[in-house]
Amino acid sequence: MNQKLKTSIAFAKNLLVTGAISETSRQVEIDICKHISKEDHKIIVEFGMGHGNITQEILNTISPTSKLYAFEVKESFCDHVRKNILDDRLVIVNDGAQNLKKHIKENVNGVISSIPFSFFSKEKGLAIIQDAYDLLENNAYYSQVLYTKFNFKKFQQIFEACEITSNKNFITEYIYHCKKVRK
Ligand SMILES: C[S@@+](CC[C@H](N)C(=O)[O-])C[C@H]1O[C@@H](n2cnc3c(N)ncnc32)[C@H](O)[C@@H]1O
Repeated sequence: MNQKLKTSIAFAKNLLVTGAISETSRQVEIDICKHISKEDHKIIVEFGMGHGNITQEILNTISPTSKLYAFEVKESFCDHVRKNILDDRLVIVNDGAQNLKKHIKENVNGVISSIPFSFFSKEKGLAIIQDAYDLLENNAYYSQVLYTKFNFKKFQQIFEACEITSNKNFITEYIYHCKKVRK
């Protein structure tokens, strides 16, 4: 069985946590990383690492001196990535995005997320977005992929500049790119 199929089965078995039956498309892996800084000594955060497809793309994008903190609630997914991505710049955090501030005390230069906001209460969703906003450097981006536009308003409530792009796959994938622009 190929790896993509194994990942789809693992996602489907855990549908209420993953919110997906397959990994995001190759085009989304590329597009969601478009605002990540390639400069030295940057800190990037990922929410919802899954089997690490976007994680690998982030690592391919950032500089050798930068760091990626990848949050994932499912321990088995963390184990999978630990075995398959050997990179000193990657710090796997087996915890929820809602606990971001427990693990990271410094400012961050970008957030890339594929967590299923539609499964969260409004309060939980807003708290995750607000905490990420608080830690982000000015002019940095939070980029989120989702299968609907329904959660876009929550991001607009907190971020000053938001845009939405779409990728027509067998299910349309939307990417929200949200920039912190403090006056
Ligand atoms: C739609 S899958 C995306 C996986 C992968 N990044 C991709 O692009 O295909 C969402 C992932 O978020 C994880 N997840 C769900 N809730 C989470 C939370 N509160 N914090 C961190 N990860 C979470 C799920 O276990 C799952 O691996």
